[in-house]
Amino acid sequence: MSKNVPKYVLGIESTAHTLGVAVVETLCPSNRLPSIADSKIKSNVICKYPSTTEGYIPRKLAEHHSREIAPALAKALQEAGISAKQLSAVAFSQGPGIGHCLHIGYVAAKTLALELGIPLIPVNHAIAHVEVARFLTSAKDPLVVYVSGGNTQIFARENCFYHVYGETMDVGIGNFIDSVARSLRLEPPDAIGLMRLAKSGKKLLDLPYSIKGMNLSFSGILTAIERLPKNTSEEDICFSAQETVLSMLVEATERCLCHTNNKEVLLCGGNARNDRLQEMYSLMCAEHGARFCVAEGQYNGDNAAMIAVTGMLMHYSKAIPESEMPEQKMRVETQKILW
Ligand code: FE2
Repeated sequence: MSKNVPKYVLGIESTAHTLGVAVVETLCPSNRLPSIADSKIKSNVICKYPSTTEGYIPRKLAEHHSREIAPALAKALQEAGISAKQLSAVAFSQGPGIGHCLHIGYVAAKTLALELGIPLIPVNHAIAHVEVARFLTSAKDPLVVYVSGGNTQIFARENCFYHVYGETMDVGIGNFIDSVARSLRLEPPDAIGLMRLAKSGKKLLDLPYSIKGMNLSFSGILTAIERLPKNTSEEDICFSAQETVLSMLVEATERCLCHTNNKEVLLCGGNARNDRLQEMYSLMCAEHGARFCVAEGQYNGDNAAMIAVTGMLMHYSKAIPESEMPEQKMRVETQKILW
């Protein structure tokens, strides 16, 4: 019996503060779709621009990415144990993201694909968050909760598209949490700093709790926090902010689940790494007899493995978009999913 020759897809992620390069290997024959049973993430190099109290400046992020892209490419290939000539395709984050940063990834991927004479695969970053989690947890048809800095969406698949049932009407849940962390000057000034302090909080403060249908609104909570008495404990503020926004999200998801009747709930995106959020979803899913799915931490934050995995699925299903140019604004429901 002839042995399958492994195929390798390289992915580049550069939408925001993370630059990543990854290689995925598959032994899947070309007449069916790769799965975790016949594929492996061989490398997942992540170079993250550090969190700062001033937030992120696009020009500085782009400078960081252009400096780090060549070493990251070399490291990803070395860790995968292959040479560039063994690659079957190159995938990159097409958007949504910061224009300066997207172009660094696009130019690197395009150059590599042209040099090697292999396909260039533009990947929707949001879809990639979902696909890598689905791939790693073997979820079939989940209700998806996508939570990150700029995104808070609840959606499920309907034929070849995702249908968005609920989402934030203002800021993303991650950006809200980062804003609270920055206003309190936590270390680090982001979700990790807030999550750490929240564990020591005891008192649930009264903060705005706003769900409209299955949509959420986080505006006003930060203002309410800033108006709290000066002697309010920082631990209680972090605990209350976290409990309030996570409860809103889980409640909106539960409403949605009762409507769609999906048998799986998949949590993905950078803020899926929040322990308390995972605990809340486990409890809610158990009550509804749904399977709760979440991938290992490194595959929830921005990473290139998600771009390589999605690129591989698109390569196998021959679902390559016509336009390869980076796009700062892309929505999940606009992507036709043919895998
Ligand atoms: Fe992301």
